[in-house]
Parts: sequence; C-alpha cells; structure tokens
Amino acid sequence: MSMRIDVITLFPEMLDTLRDHGVSRIALERGAASLSCYNPRDFTDDAYRSVDDRPYGGGPGMVMLPGPLDRCIDALREQNDGPLIYLSPQGETLDQGLAAELAALPAIGLLCGRYEGVDERIVSTRVDREISIGDYVLAGGELAAMVLIECMLRLLPGVLGNADSAAQDSFSHGLLDHPHYTRPENYRGMAVPPVLLGGNHAEIARWRLKQALARTRARRPDLLARRPFDELEQELLKALDLEQNDE
Ligand code: ADE
Repeated sequence: MSMRIDVITLFPEMLDTLRDHGVSRIALERGAASLSCYNPRDFTDDAYRSVDDRPYGGGPGMVMLPGPLDRCIDALREQNDGPLIYLSPQGETLDQGLAAELAALPAIGLLCGRYEGVDERIVSTRVDREISIGDYVLAGGELAAMVLIECMLRLLPGVLGNADSAAQDSFSHGLLDHPHYTRPENYRGMAVPPVLLGGNHAEIARWRLKQALARTRARRPDLLARRPFDELEQELLKALDLEQNDE
C-alpha cells in the first residue's frame, strides 16, 4: 500500500528537495508514498493572482486569503480524503509517536501557511489538525511539512534496510540514542570503547542501553519521567547511580 501525501504550498519547488535526496527520494521512487503539491496561486480570482491581504484590526504582515485556499482544498479533496493538517506554531508538537501515527494513514494533506498565517475561517472549517515542529517561528509551513514528511517516509515499510531499521531509532524506545563509533579504532588518541570491539552482542546491547539511559537522564530527564522501566533498565540506572556516587 502506498501513502498519499498532498501539500498545499505557494512554494512547491521547496518540496523537490525531498524528491531529490536521501531516504525520502528512495521512499518516493519505490512508490512507498506519493507526493503532490497544490498551489493556492492557481486558484486565485483576480488579475494580480493575489493570495494574501492585510489583516483586519491592523498590525504587521499579511494573511492568506480564504477564497484561493478553499478552492485549492476542494481540488485536493478530489484526490485525498485523509486528514488535512495545518503546520503552525500553535499546533500540537510533533514527536516520534505522532509521526508514526500519521505514517500509518493511507492519505494525509498538509497545508503550509506563509506571511502571518491563514484566515482563521479556513482553519476552523477545513483543517482537521494543527501541528507544530517546535517552539520557534519559521517564515512558512514548508520546512515544517518537509520535516514531518521525512519523519513519516523513513517509517514506511520497505524504506529503510534492516540494518538501520526505524525500530532501532532513538525515541522509538523513548530514549536518546547511544553513541556511535566507526574506524579507526584509535582516532587522535581517543580509543573506541573496548566492549564494542569484543563481538559479545549481549554485552554490546547492554552497554548501549546503559549509555542511552545515562544520556537521557543527563540531557532530557523529562523523557524518562514519562516512561516505565523494565528490570534491566532499573538495574542499569542503579549502576549509573553508584558510578556517579563514586565520582
Ligand atoms: N510555521 C511557522 N513556524 C512553524 C513551526 N514551528 N511549526 C510548524 N509550522 C510552522
């Protein structure tokens, strides 16, 4: 089954980056998903092809006109009956769980705002969900949509090889990732941790889990607070406590 992704944007060329590079290119080439764009400028009704106007009540910037957006959404709806998601800083924050939930859908639409945003009557009548990629303000929704699309595409079946499967990602277990090393064994006097050279897979898995726990506790204690620990994790956390007390 192929996932259908339709994006409403004034800058469809930005999305070419996903088509041209990396894992997203592979996912689209293999047909794991399709990606199409709709430009509100193609749905304008004046000689200037206007897509924005000044905000009622005054203030800086421009607001995207409801008319072209409504007609653009109508055109999208002929092809796509999935939820329409508006990318905006006012939305719920994207995380790995939300990306996985959306990647399981057969179709989604993404609405990218520019300027100060889109007329609220479009948001209230046509948008199913509002998503933010973090507490900062971009100049438009395109990069946010691309972040969401890349997160979803790499989760689709058959896109990543087994070796770098999404099941091994940081966050898929609610923890930050463990450190990684490659050749040479000794780089500028810094040696690779010996356990990684020994070939004992159980020992390596244990070391990696312990590193992931230590990093998560040091850098993102909020993630640990949301998550139960199994027996091994409890043992490793105790070991980390003891090591810390020794220091
Ligand atoms: N548009 C502008 N800023 C954004 C953000 N942080 N997330 C999603 N869409 C946005």
